[in-house]
Amino acid sequence: MRSSKPLNLLLLVLTILVIGLPCFIVATTKEWMPPELTKWRVEIVNGLRNNAALFVHCKSKENDLGIHNLTAGRNFTWSFRENFFHRTLFWCYLRKGDAHANFNVFWHDVLLFYKCGWKSCVWTAKDDGIYLKDFIKDSEELCEKWKPGS
Ligand SMILES: *[C@@H]1O[C@H](CO)[C@@H](O)[C@H](O)[C@H]1NC(C)=O
Ligand SMILES: *[C@@H]1O[C@H](CO)[C@@H](O)[C@H](O)[C@H]1NC(C)=O
Repeated sequence: MRSSKPLNLLLLVLTILVIGLPCFIVATTKEWMPPELTKWRVEIVNGLRNNAALFVHCKSKENDLGIHNLTAGRNFTWSFRENFFHRTLFWCYLRKGDAHANFNVFWHDVLLFYKCGWKSCVWTAKDDGIYLKDFIKDSEELCEKWKPGS
């Protein structure tokens, strides 16, 4: 057991290097701002195939952003500043034909902030689930799967 400690430390350092380095590069090149001063944007995109409509209902504790039916390719977008107590939380209910998803789209999480490029959290509904754009890797990550029914 004791002999595995240096190995754990090495793994930790490697993990920080691998995960932390891209973040650091982004932070130094992309004008880092405290989350409270950043004007955040959340975008919900209809990336479904076959011209399928996407039903969107997003909320925070203070705001109901209303219901929206997005036609293919369209998006629903809003902006806000995080409150100073880091309690800003937005969540959405999405529905496509025979399935739905219910998930958080913005919360206080530095890893999320990096993925959102300190600017925009872009959630795209596709046929197999909901993807979050990762601005660090310049890719999309499957975060939520559809659940059957409404
Ligand atoms: C969106 O579509 C659903 C049915 O798919 C309908 O019940 C609802 O009224 C529509 N809402 C708007 C805002 O058009
Ligand atoms: C959202 O829609 C606007 C206006 O149609 C467009 O300019 C923007 O690129 C769209 N965003 C995404 C992520 O598709």
